[in-house]
Amino acid sequence: AIDLSTLTKQTGLTALDYGFVNTASTKSNITYIDGDAGILRYRGYPIDQVAKNLSFLETAWLLIYGEVPSATELEGFEENIRRHTLLHEDLKDFFSGFPRNAHPMPVLSAGVSALSTYYEDSLDPNNPEHVEIATYRLLAKLPVMAAYAHKKSIGQAFLYPDNSLSYVENFLRLTFGNRAENYEMNPVVVNALERLLILHEDHEQNASTSTVRLVGSTDANLFASVSAGINALFGPLHGGANEAVLTMLGEIKNSGESVAKYVERVKNKEDGVRLMGFGHRVYKNFDPRAVLVKESADEVLVALGVKNDLLDIAKELEGIALNDDYFRERKLYPNVDFYTGVIYKAMGFPPRMFTVLFAIGRLPGWIGHWREMNEDPQTKIGRPQQLYTGEVQRNLPGLS
Ligand code: ACO
Repeated sequence: AIDLSTLTKQTGLTALDYGFVNTASTKSNITYIDGDAGILRYRGYPIDQVAKNLSFLETAWLLIYGEVPSATELEGFEENIRRHTLLHEDLKDFFSGFPRNAHPMPVLSAGVSALSTYYEDSLDPNNPEHVEIATYRLLAKLPVMAAYAHKKSIGQAFLYPDNSLSYVENFLRLTFGNRAENYEMNPVVVNALERLLILHEDHEQNASTSTVRLVGSTDANLFASVSAGINALFGPLHGGANEAVLTMLGEIKNSGESVAKYVERVKNKEDGVRLMGFGHRVYKNFDPRAVLVKESADEVLVALGVKNDLLDIAKELEGIALNDDYFRERKLYPNVDFYTGVIYKAMGFPPRMFTVLFAIGRLPGWIGHWREMNEDPQTKIGRPQQLYTGEVQRNLPGLS
């Protein structure tokens, strides 16, 4: 790699790099990706080992602190998170102010941003105790807020967290449970959701993580930085893709158009239509997460006894695209989100919650990167250059 700051100083040149395709913004110890070989490792551990052997919170600890936690460390971590699951009662009122049909992603980012107004003891990036407690608060409260955003959109009463449950179980109960009856936990759903969340936990300098780091580089607090990351994730080219995949599959089903015909329209770029859930900026061979997600899709749908037309359409689409020169030449393969929407739908989540699930999954990665950036003495405020292409200088109309 070339150190651009030295090179540009020596030569006086500026690098123009749309989308930062060729520019590293930082060094990082957290996640390794080799896009050509389809490799993803968290702190050096292969993603399939992590997803099959660690829990969501063990993986969170690994990403944030660098090692797999000991039993005592994990117990302490879980306890610290449990202690912070309750939302301030006034913050609950805050959710009532949004329109009934509000999308849960902006509700979530607003809720996280609002944490800065409640917790003065969590806002100083230069105070390690503040950073630590902000970490616990975010991990504890994000799933609760996500469930509240969902309850709000369906007009149901909020439940209080039940701290005898695991992290994922608690979230499922808060989302699907109600005050009238006990929520029955399905272990297949719990395990599959845990695995999907782990697969989303980190992906190095993606758009939302880069956003978190950029905002954090101004010394903005962790809540403010993560709130910005949630907004970046909301875009359909990033986290919104899982929802967009399901919309696309539904449209194909309802239009009666054959899958092959739809693929033709994608190849002809009709109205800019893309195969959602296909392609990735980094993976140009296969996305190792997609392989594990596809396994889960089959397991969950069989276990839940769901016959899902959309899964059949997705598999047919994948089969056609993988054998088509358009996709082969451009190295377009299913990404992590191609099958997640189908699984989330089978679990009972409405499509608008899909990106919220991504946000819950990605949170430990955002926190890990923010903390790494915050501790790195080489961090500078993020401030890209531009190449100015406008008028050089002119006078306002009427002034000569
Ligand atoms: N369907 C059809 N054609 C595509 C697709 C697609 N999904 N993705 C890329 N292409 C084509 C482009 O039209 C372009 O073709 P051209 O060379 O004829 O102009 C070529 O492939 C390269 O595309 P770029 O947009 O330059 O690729 P980039 O690496 O910038 O984009 C991205 C990656 C944004 C993920 C893109 O593949 C895409 O839009 N995919 C669909 C959305 C999606 O699934 N996003 C989720 C990403 S994963 C995540 O966030 C977890």
